[in-house]
Amino acid sequence: MNKSKDNLPQNVKPRGFWGRIAVRVMAKGLRSIYKNVATVLDLHPEDDFLEIGFGSGIFMRSYASHVRSITGLDHSEDMVKLATKYNQERIDAGTAEFRQGEASQLPWENEKFSAAAAIATFILLPKPLDSLKEIHRVLRPGGRLVISVEWNAEDGVDYTKYIKKYRIRLYTGKEIQAMFQEAGFSESSITYSKGFKRHKIIIVRGVK
Ligand SMILES: C[S@@+](CC[C@H](N)C(=O)[O-])C[C@H]1O[C@@H](n2cnc3c(N)ncnc32)[C@H](O)[C@@H]1O
Repeated sequence: MNKSKDNLPQNVKPRGFWGRIAVRVMAKGLRSIYKNVATVLDLHPEDDFLEIGFGSGIFMRSYASHVRSITGLDHSEDMVKLATKYNQERIDAGTAEFRQGEASQLPWENEKFSAAAAIATFILLPKPLDSLKEIHRVLRPGGRLVISVEWNAEDGVDYTKYIKKYRIRLYTGKEIQAMFQEAGFSESSITYSKGFKRHKIIIVRGVK
């Protein structure tokens, strides 16, 4: 897997032609996860929605077209361009904004959003707790965050070689819930769903 200038593999920072292909293929594989996340997130027309690590931006186009505003942050410049292309109508209408940046340093003011999600992204974050604290900061009281965790420490599978190759971090659902609590979320819950092959997917929902 070819690396970026900052030495990150394509799954962590997709870029260029192959990065664009990879996230589109990935989005097809993630369809059932998108659906489950959308169910747990339960977006309403009055929501101001934030997605961290949006990749192609297809989740927002498919599941957040009815909300008041969509906003996203991704550290890949190429993903910002791709998501902009997929959501151009909303950008033109002034109800969408995509920025390049790091999940642990969000460029928005406190309490700007009512809902947030990170799909297939949390296990890639180098500063997971700081990122959760930042998401918590920009959520309004009662705002919810939903994350999907595709590889986990509960499967009982030896993922050693993937940890290095794909730069992933493995957690149990309980470890993530403890991080949510430390970040300030007042409650959290877990839903499990079936993943690809032997994986099970953990979906964690927190409320500020
Ligand atoms: C595996 S892709 C998933 C993309 C998208 N959520 C989807 O469902 O197709 C992970 C995404 O998170 C972004 N990402 C990874 N680490 C990040 C970080 N520390 N800060 C911001 N974005 C990050 C990557 O650039 C990539 O677009």
